Amino acid sequence: MIQIEYIGEGAIGKLKEVVASFALKKIFLVTGTASYAASGAQQPVEDALFGLEVLHYTDFGALPVQEDIDKGIVAYNAFGPSLVIATGGGHVMDIAKAINYFAGKKPLIAIPTTAGSGSEATRFAVVYKDGLKTSLESPEILPAVAIVDPALAQSVPKKVALASGLDALAQSIESLWSLQASEESKGYAKAALELVWNNIIPAIEERDKEAIGQVMLGAHLAGKAINISKTTACHALSYGLTYRFGIPHGVAVAVFLPAIIRFNNVLLPEPSVTPEAVERLLSQLGIINLSQFGVKATDIPSLAAEVNLERLGNNPRVLTHADIVRLYTEIL
Ligand SMILES: [Fe+2]
Repeated sequence: MIQIEYIGEGAIGKLKEVVASFALKKIFLVTGTASYAASGAQQPVEDALFGLEVLHYTDFGALPVQEDIDKGIVAYNAFGPSLVIATGGGHVMDIAKAINYFAGKKPLIAIPTTAGSGSEATRFAVVYKDGLKTSLESPEILPAVAIVDPALAQSVPKKVALASGLDALAQSIESLWSLQASEESKGYAKAALELVWNNIIPAIEERDKEAIGQVMLGAHLAGKAINISKTTACHALSYGLTYRFGIPHGVAVAVFLPAIIRFNNVLLPEPSVTPEAVERLLSQLGIINLSQFGVKATDIPSLAAEVNLERLGNNPRVLTHADIVRLYTEIL
C-alpha cells in the first residue's frame, strides 16, 4: 500500500482538501487531550471537519493498552465511521491504528504532533496486552495519508520531546543494522540518523524551531525505515521497562544504545555516532541508568524473561540469555 505524504511547515493546511477528497461524511477522530489544543492541531482539524459528523475519541491513557482499544472498538462500531483521523504522539497513532484495524479498516489520516515515533509511516501498531508488548502488523495498518507539519511539534513538553527524539535516534540506528534492512530502508535510515543526530540537542534543549523540524522529518524517515526493516535489540529489551516502570518508550530504548552499539560493532554511516558520544548525549539529557527510574537488580530476571524475541531476532548479532542479563545489569 502506498501512502500519500504532505511534509513540511504548513502541511496541516492540506487537511481540509484531503478530507474533502475522500468525500466521506463520518469521521472517527482520535486525539490526545491536552496535546490536541496545545499542538495547534485542533483548529485546523475542526476547520477541516466542519459540517461533517465526527466522533471524537480521547478515552485512553498514555500507553496503548488492549482495554482502551476494546472501548474504542465499541464506540467505533456504534458510530460506523467511513474515515479515521489520528493526531497526537505515538500512542495516539497506535490506539487509532489498532481500533481501526480490528473494527473497520477505513482510510486513516495520521497527523503526528511529536517529533519521534514515526508511527504515521508504519504498518505496525504497538499494543500492550496482559502486561506484554505485542505488535499488530498488516499493510492495512499503514495510514493512507501522513501529514507531517513541524509547526505541530513546537509546543510539546520537554519530557515528551526528549523521549520522542530518542526513539527516532534509536529507530534510525537499529534500522541500519537490522537483518531485515534493504537498500531502500538503509537510505531512509541514513538520512534519518543524520537529521536526528545533528539536531536533537538544539531541538530538545533550546527548543530551536528549525531543529525541531529537522528531528520531525528525521523521525518520519526513521518510521519509513523501520516499516521495512523493523527494530532490533534496543527495542526488544525496552518494553518491560515502559510497561512496568513507566519509563517513556524513547528513553527505554535509548538507554541500551551505547551498549548495543558496542555489542553489535557495526560501522554506522555517521562516524560520530560512537557509544561514547551516545553516552554523553544521554547524560547531557539527564539519563544515567535504570536505577534512577526505580529498577532494581531483583527485577532483572523477570525483565530478561520478558524480552521481545521477535524484534531480538532482527539484531545482527545473536544475544544469549546471559548477554541480556549482562546488558540490563551494566546499565542498572
Ligand atoms: Fe520505537
